[in-house]
Amino acid sequence: MKYIKKKFSIEGISAQKLAKKFGTPIYCYSYKRLKENIDNFKSSFKSFAPLICFAIKANPNVSLIRDIKKLGLGADVVSMGEMMKAIKAGVNPKKIVFSGVGKTENEIKYAIDKKILLINAESKNEIITIEKIAKSKKKIVNIGIRLNPNTDAKTLNQISTGKKENKFGVNEKTFIELIRYSKNSNNINLKCLSVHIGSQILNYRPYIKMLRVIDKILKKTNHKFEFIDLGGGMGIPYKDNSKKLNFNKYNIAIKKFLKNNKFKIIFEPGRCIVGNTGVLISKIIYIKEAGKKKFIILDTGMNDFIRPALYNANHKILPAIKTNRISKKTYEFVGPICESTDKFSTLKKFQKLNEKDIIIICDVGAYGMSLSSNYNVRAKPIEILIKNSKINIIKKRQKLKDLI
Ligand code: LLP
Repeated sequence: MKYIKKKFSIEGISAQKLAKKFGTPIYCYSYKRLKENIDNFKSSFKSFAPLICFAIKANPNVSLIRDIKKLGLGADVVSMGEMMKAIKAGVNPKKIVFSGVGKTENEIKYAIDKKILLINAESKNEIITIEKIAKSKKKIVNIGIRLNPNTDAKTLNQISTGKKENKFGVNEKTFIELIRYSKNSNNINLKCLSVHIGSQILNYRPYIKMLRVIDKILKKTNHKFEFIDLGGGMGIPYKDNSKKLNFNKYNIAIKKFLKNNKFKIIFEPGRCIVGNTGVLISKIIYIKEAGKKKFIILDTGMNDFIRPALYNANHKILPAIKTNRISKKTYEFVGPICESTDKFSTLKKFQKLNEKDIIIICDVGAYGMSLSSNYNVRAKPIEILIKNSKINIIKKRQKLKDLI
């Protein structure tokens, strides 16, 4: 993704051209970026060859999951719907892990029938439910238990999951009690310790703390785990000047951890696999003067892409066609939704814009389409994937008639 002769292009195809062809808004992804991210992830941790389970929640598009699967990844799912999508995309159930604090009996039954690799349980009552279902099916089910390591991921509060006040996992004391409980069960086989401390983590130190907590717990028990599932959470730089997570430091820490312990490592990355693969292409409907600033009113809003409204997240905004004229007024990029939080960014010294110009919102491949809604009864955008410079429609634009 770059400017070619002043036109923002995805694998050589200009956003302007795509907007003309398909209308706006468009979620557009680059296969090349996806492959680069996966290659980079694999090579960063190659010495211990982890099982990499893509967190479907980041982007549940079946065509994308199929490509991700072909590049060797499994899936981390948190609902029956995600499990069904992963299976539809051809992910081997032996590469699927199931997380989440509120798995229903139906979901657990489905997971058992599909013979997925692990159900990562998050409470005693969930384990009892799994055991009961396994017993009724006369099966032995492989499970993990999610530990809450009480480690601050130093990320946004809304996406931090590893502190004791968060609803996720169980504390150390309960964890040890549940190992004992599982050992006495004829229908469950405890194979995995899992953790996930949060999302958009840019500093490797919380991961090191987390590994220390796991190490300490493992020393207190003599249970033989086959897998340690370290979750996901690896952050990406959304701003030009923000730092990247140092994969190398994390890799070194895990290698050290594995010296005393022989486990197969599982990762559940979402954002760092797909985040920078997608852009949202949108058109300016109106430009409205408001004192010192101008509202740039786009044809996409918080219903299509909610991260700025929900987390105050910062996403770069670019013009589809570069000119050299700079606006004297501050631009506030907003959507058409009837909420004041329906705002993407406020920018000074942006290039001068006109109504009908095309605008690019960057890095929307993770938690973009997956968090979209039909709020204000708006149809969801089309999704396209550019692969080997070819345009593939991977999800049609929703039709209003299907909503009404
Ligand atoms: N594993 C578990 C158990 C998770 O809860 C999550 C994310 C992941 C893996 C993947 O995390 P990632 O590698 O993508 O950071 N909507 C928020 C992010 C919520 C993440 C929830 N759990 C956002 O837009 O920033």
